[in-house]
Amino acid sequence: MVMIIDGAAVAKRIRAELAQQVLGEKLSPGLAVVLVGEDPASQVYVRNKSRAASEAGIESWQHTLPAETTQAELLALVDNLNKDAKVHGILVQLPLPRQIDAQTVIAAISPDKDVDGFHPVNAGRLSLGLPSFVPCTPQGCMILLREALPDLAGKRAIVLGRSNIVGKPVAQLLLQADCTVTIAHSRTRDLAGECRRADIVIAAIGKPEFVKGDWIKEGAVVIDVGINRIDDVVNTGKTKLVGDVDFAEASKRAAAITPVPGGVGPMTIACLLRNTVLGARQAG
Ligand code: GUN
Repeated sequence: MVMIIDGAAVAKRIRAELAQQVLGEKLSPGLAVVLVGEDPASQVYVRNKSRAASEAGIESWQHTLPAETTQAELLALVDNLNKDAKVHGILVQLPLPRQIDAQTVIAAISPDKDVDGFHPVNAGRLSLGLPSFVPCTPQGCMILLREALPDLAGKRAIVLGRSNIVGKPVAQLLLQADCTVTIAHSRTRDLAGECRRADIVIAAIGKPEFVKGDWIKEGAVVIDVGINRIDDVVNTGKTKLVGDVDFAEASKRAAAITPVPGGVGPMTIACLLRNTVLGARQAG
C-alpha cells in the first residue's frame, strides 16, 4: 500500500511548535509581505500567509502595490522594511510585473531578513553548506521526504525543474543529505528513463500530470511540488487542482507520494513562518 504523505498534518504540527516557541522565548516576530499587482493566485497565497502568521503569534503586514508600481518605488519600500526593527522577514511575492527586475529587488532585501532564501548571499551560503535561510518550498519537500524515508544517504534522487525557487535549492539540500542528484529539465534526453532510475522524484515543472505512472520506479518516493488548476469537465464541469504527477497511476508504483492539494503546498507556508521565527531569534 502506498503511503500518502500528509503535508497538511505535518505543516499543522510545525505551526503549533512555532506558536509554542514564540510564546516560550517571548519573541515578537514580524513578517512583511509585499504584493505588486493583482495576480489572483498570488492574492490567495498572500492571504493564506497572513492568516497562518497570526495563528503562530507572528505579526504580519501586507503591502499591496498597484501593478504599475515602478522598480524605484518598490526598492524604496524594501529599504524602509530593511530598516524597520519590528520586521524580521521580508517576502516580495513573485512573479513581479514586467517593468520590475526581480533579481534587483531580491538583492536589495537584507540577507538577514530574506525569509525566502532567494538573496544571492543565502543561495551562495546554501550551496557552500553554510547556515542560511533555506527557501521554503525546498525545505518543505525535504521534511516530507524524510517522513517517508528517514535515511537518504546514497539514494538516487531526480529533480524535475531547475528554477531558482525550487529545483536548484532542493537539489542542494538533497546533495547535502548525501543523495546522488540528477537535475532534469526541458532539454533532458529520455526523461522517462532518467526518472525510472530514481529512488526519489521531486517534480517541480508546473505542468499538470506531466509525470506518468510508468516513469516511477517500484518503491520510489514521489514529492509533487506542482499546483496546477485544470478543467474537470468530465466529472464536475468545474476546475480542480492537480500536481505535476499523475497521482492515481504513480500511486500504484510508489512507496510514498504527496497529494495535491494537501502535500507540499501547506509546508511552504509553515517553513516561511519557521524562517521568520529564526530571523526574530537571530535579531534577538
Ligand atoms: N511565488 C511562488 N512561490 C513563491 C515563494 O516561495 N516566494 C515568493 N516570494 N514568491 C513565490
